[in-house]
Amino acid sequence: MKYEYSVKVDDLRTHFKVHRPHLFAEQPTVYAVDGVSFEIEPGKTFGLVGESGCGKSTTALSVLRLVEPTSGSVELNGVDICQLSENDLRNYRRHMQIIFQDPYSSMNPRTTAGEIIRTPLRILKIGTPKEQHERVEELLGLVGLRPEQKNLYPHQFSGGQRQRICVARALAPNPDFIVCDEPVSALDVAIQSQILNLLARLQQEFGLTYLFISHDMAVVQHICDEIAVMYLGRIVEKADRRSLFLDVQHPYTKALLAAVPTTDNNSKLSFVSLKGDVPSPMDPPSGCHFHTRCPMAETRCSKEIPKLRQVLPNHWVACHLV
Ligand SMILES: Nc1ncnc2c1ncn2[C@@H]1O[C@H](COP(=O)(O)OP(=O)(O)O)[C@@H](O)[C@H]1O
Ligand SMILES: [Mg+2]
Repeated sequence: MKYEYSVKVDDLRTHFKVHRPHLFAEQPTVYAVDGVSFEIEPGKTFGLVGESGCGKSTTALSVLRLVEPTSGSVELNGVDICQLSENDLRNYRRHMQIIFQDPYSSMNPRTTAGEIIRTPLRILKIGTPKEQHERVEELLGLVGLRPEQKNLYPHQFSGGQRQRICVARALAPNPDFIVCDEPVSALDVAIQSQILNLLARLQQEFGLTYLFISHDMAVVQHICDEIAVMYLGRIVEKADRRSLFLDVQHPYTKALLAAVPTTDNNSKLSFVSLKGDVPSPMDPPSGCHFHTRCPMAETRCSKEIPKLRQVLPNHWVACHLV
């Protein structure tokens, strides 16, 4: 059966209760993800972009239920994974995998590359040990490594090669959906494009659907079909790639784009530069979360939460002033 969407996230919220600063204080809540919705068509790449701390990784982990969402739903090929029992979820894990930013910290340094790649097959009990070893060699080839490199340890590889091992590990159980959480952010720019090209090639070959997370506008522009811009736990703008870069609407997105050196519309955008840091998601600003840093903010921006509404074909924005 063919689905309209591989992934359908609806009003996802993930709030963390954290320690009280003192005995009589109220228990603070971190609103890391606060009402996020998006869909990804089969075989497409959906980008999530925003500054550090805006809730991208929490969204990534929540979508896979590696962190338990507070509310909302995540449908994968029509199955709401938020409703699955622990057991059913374990069985369903083969369909969805994740690649992290720092390959080194997501691998055991005393485990060979081959064993690292075999791990999901072992845990998910896919194939006999002999089949698993054959699959590992096949996967090494798919990500551009040599079969005999399966006996090497993580420190014997370069950063780019280590990320290839992580890609192979994610690919091992033959998933439909891979979440890539800043997969190239720790790599040199020259190596970044090699890994991005590898991901694009594997997507073509296996019809993979990606949720691609990055703080780097240039990277999402390179690889994503659709892009959502996140600020303090909410999506502020969402559009297909073309529309986002041609007709950028939200002042926050403009500021992010102005920080990208190469775009030729820089001059038009340079009037917006981001001041200060992202406010704490424990105590987010009222109304539009961005109003404290927005050069155009008016009174109502601090009072009313702007809804995400469609302003152009395939282009949504949450701003009172657009
Ligand atoms: N397990 C947790 N407990 C409490 N707060 C958390 C936890 N995980 C993330 N946060 C907080 O949630 C916010 C969003 O974090 P994160 O999703 O990692 O953002 P990003 O990936 O965009 O940098 C941050 O303020 C972070 O400190
Ligand atoms: Mg992150």
